[in-house]
Amino acid sequence: MMDEKARIEQLRTELHRHNYQYYVMNKPEISDIEFDHLMRELQDLELRHPELFDPNSPTQRVGSDINHEFKQVAHKRPMLSLANTYNKEEVTEWYERVNDGLQGQPFQVCCEMKFDGLSISLHYEHGRLVRAVTRGDGQQGDDVTENIKTIRSIPLVLPQGLDYPDEFEIRGEVLMPWESFEALNREREAAEEPLFANPRNAASGTLKSKNSAVVAQRHLDAYLYYLLGEGIPGESHYENLQRASEWGFKIGPQMKLVSSLQEIFDYIDYWDVERKNLPVATDGIVLKVNSLAQQRSLGLTAKSPRWAIAYKFLAEKQSTVLREVTFQVGRTGAITPVANMDPVQLSGTVVRRATLNNEDFIRNLDLHIGDHVFVEKGGEIIPKIVDVDLDARDENLGPRVEFITTCPECGTPLVRYEGEAATYCPNETSCPPQLKGRIEHFISRKAMNIDSLGPETIAEYFRRGIIRDPADLYEIRRDQISGARGQKDKSASKILLGIQESTKVPFERVLYALGIRFVGETAAKTLARNFKSIDALAKASIDELLQVNGIGAVIAQSIISWFQNAQNQWFVERLRSYGLQMELSEDELSEHTDKLQGQSIVISGVFAHHSRDEYKALIEKHGGKNVGSISAKTSFVLAGENMGPAKLEKAQKLGIRIVNEDEFLKMIE
Ligand code: IVH
Repeated sequence: MMDEKARIEQLRTELHRHNYQYYVMNKPEISDIEFDHLMRELQDLELRHPELFDPNSPTQRVGSDINHEFKQVAHKRPMLSLANTYNKEEVTEWYERVNDGLQGQPFQVCCEMKFDGLSISLHYEHGRLVRAVTRGDGQQGDDVTENIKTIRSIPLVLPQGLDYPDEFEIRGEVLMPWESFEALNREREAAEEPLFANPRNAASGTLKSKNSAVVAQRHLDAYLYYLLGEGIPGESHYENLQRASEWGFKIGPQMKLVSSLQEIFDYIDYWDVERKNLPVATDGIVLKVNSLAQQRSLGLTAKSPRWAIAYKFLAEKQSTVLREVTFQVGRTGAITPVANMDPVQLSGTVVRRATLNNEDFIRNLDLHIGDHVFVEKGGEIIPKIVDVDLDARDENLGPRVEFITTCPECGTPLVRYEGEAATYCPNETSCPPQLKGRIEHFISRKAMNIDSLGPETIAEYFRRGIIRDPADLYEIRRDQISGARGQKDKSASKILLGIQESTKVPFERVLYALGIRFVGETAAKTLARNFKSIDALAKASIDELLQVNGIGAVIAQSIISWFQNAQNQWFVERLRSYGLQMELSEDELSEHTDKLQGQSIVISGVFAHHSRDEYKALIEKHGGKNVGSISAKTSFVLAGENMGPAKLEKAQKLGIRIVNEDEFLKMIE
């Protein structure tokens, strides 16, 4: 027995290493036959010793035929996405923002390929893969560990004696290489099954398969690009990925460190061409500030880090014929002109409809029905018309495309606000898509999160006259929505419970749910923290609004007009009467103090304990105001390391106190 146990362990270690040599290094040391031989030996031994079962054994990579549902798991750290840029000017702007943010400190940028698959988060404990989670909505995703184990380039067990921490997370992209993709589609064609549009869809469809044996046959691959966790070895992104590569992870070998904008452009130009020779699909370049300390000091916005950006390669463009233009009314009343065209293949999918943006866009193109138009799939999912082929016009050219003047849904004359490109239907209070859109926004996850309701149910209730605005939700009676049968009663209960539960949703999300134009998630949060109640916000003057960090003229004006509207006031009163949260809770309030009341504070330099954004939030939480530049009115400068020399000089000249990080934290303790 002792011998067989030792042999099992030896075989597992060896097979892990051969897997690595073959799938990560592309340098097999033994033949396929020898490999199969060792694998069979291990399988036989494991069968005889079920007590030695190991979920991370190389034998577990074949998957299982047993269907299973995916468990939802919350991400330990949210999975953010990247802001996109589409040209060198935008890259330059990012580079300058970073440079300003770092106050002229030298910095390096790590350039990488942007792999076009789906992102995955892998968790390792004591060198063993314990969990793999899809991105999901960034906050939580599906536990796809069993499927991920079938990807041979992902290590199940790391070699012993290396410097990886006991616990870490590594993120990357799961991909279906072109070769596997083409083979798969050939098979599907032969079997008369629907084809996958592109490798990304194929990879995503595969990874979400409930049967891991299917995944094992589909030959997915994975490139890792982000190491996270306490105790990760390096001080820089590049170094960390180098280490991860030594531990056995597959890292894109195109990764390169540069220290100037010109080198970034060279990298982009080189890989825009060379990428066509890579075994997997890429759709751009990712640029990351290399130093982790600098990353921390640059911090994050609500959606993406400031220290990284994606540059997207120019999308594929195709020409086709315009047949008709229709107009759609959105949630905000914005009218979108839509081109209906002869079907055309674009990046692997068939496209029939594309956006025409707005009135000026159509006019500038001098667009006619029957025109040959160029369609492109940009960063967005919705394709867009980018140009007209004037040379292709012939005698069959139809009439000029005219923008409509009345709403296609409710007949109201359309308006264009000064300085805005969009045309709107101003009938906010009774134009059906606007009403439905407002309700959909209201129930959405980041707003009231009433997930027992969906767009179809909303549309149905709307059609049946049960609801016309979000406040009506709280008046729905069981007899209006439940049928005679037991099953329907159950879903009615669920819906009513979901609506009732939403009355507990915190004030900041209620504020977002109201759907005030330009008041997004972040603005709603800021407003809630500053004004603390809907009544205080409704009473705020434009000046008071403008004083709040992050609230500009457009948002401020929109809030003022919204609260001036009597229907909106009535709407708020109704929501209040149903018990929705119209102010910050005791708990939220108690986190706020007035320790920094009336103080104007300038932040400068690089910090060790919190990011700049966090310090900004702390200042606001304690009643202070964060201002950009030093003046005689500045109360003190919160200074980290490497405070800008110009700022330092100015502060000294004006005799303004410099407070370091620890002193500051004591002040607000
Ligand atoms: S870094 C906070 N690096 O692009 C940094 N992402 O919109 C997060 N992606 O969701 C990502 N290649 O799925 C990073 N070399 C790369 C990448 C990459 C592809 C994907 C990833 C992410 C999306 C960003």
